[in-house]
Amino acid sequence: MQNASKVNLHFSDWKNKSIVRSGRFKESPDELFDENLTDYPDNLLPFIGHPAYEALDDRIKSRIGSFAWIAWNKRVVDTEELIIGPALACLIANKTDITLKGIPKMAIRQAIVDEYFHSHMHDIAVGITIENRSLSQEDVEQLDKPALLYRRYQEVASDLPEQWQKDIALLVWCVIGELSIYEFLTFVSKDETVQPASRSLVGLHERDEAVHASLIQAVMEDNYQYLSEEQKSCFEACLPYGLSAFSAVDWVIWQDVLRISGVKDSEQIIKDVINDSSISNTIPLNRSFVRIKRFCENVGISTEDIF
Ligand SMILES: [Fe+2]
Ligand SMILES: [Fe+2]
Repeated sequence: MQNASKVNLHFSDWKNKSIVRSGRFKESPDELFDENLTDYPDNLLPFIGHPAYEALDDRIKSRIGSFAWIAWNKRVVDTEELIIGPALACLIANKTDITLKGIPKMAIRQAIVDEYFHSHMHDIAVGITIENRSLSQEDVEQLDKPALLYRRYQEVASDLPEQWQKDIALLVWCVIGELSIYEFLTFVSKDETVQPASRSLVGLHERDEAVHASLIQAVMEDNYQYLSEEQKSCFEACLPYGLSAFSAVDWVIWQDVLRISGVKDSEQIIKDVINDSSISNTIPLNRSFVRIKRFCENVGISTEDIF
């Protein structure tokens, strides 16, 4: 299907298919909270198998799962609110040399509406966990650092003197985020050991993101050519940094999760895990990276040195 037809289809489907319009999301989920299930998949805990982690009692392990889940949701909300929302707003305000109008502009605005509703959904997920696990608000508020992908954006943006360069960098982060968040969400939504309400919420988000990935790719493929040569070279220069920001494991947040859960050896555990060559420092966003590579090839960005 041609990109323009895809955008038209997503635009006209939105009123029926998007979560915000369909009414499928319930603030009080039908699924009951099962305290025997984990809040976060054990197999995604990077320190599983570490002797100090394995020696912890079940109460602390359960707290680690809860704070890991809250941190995971916060990463999703940070992606929506600090990257995707502002970047898409920048795009429809024509802050770059891309001028969007008509259906593509309206479809991107629909995506912005979706993103803020997704943040609301994840707020609900966090609230359910806090309530059912009787976590203190003060402990939860200690998870106050923005996600690594945003901290890395800030580092890159602070090295770029011009506002238009910061806008392009934000757009790069947005394209990578929108083409990879679907895969990131599947890590949790498919895991049957986690709370069913969490899985169904993430599953709903995934559906919208499958549409967003297709929409953003189509709009950007049709419009990349309108960026000036300077904007294009800035876009290409930022790409490797963005890819690394989205795929790097956030060890700082993992240490916070352990510390807030009451683990005394949190610093040592994280040091050991970072130094353990059998534990990956990256999130396996393989399918997404294939898709981003295809996008690059379609708009004429050389991928030799990037992938
Ligand atoms: Fe989203
Ligand atoms: Fe999205």
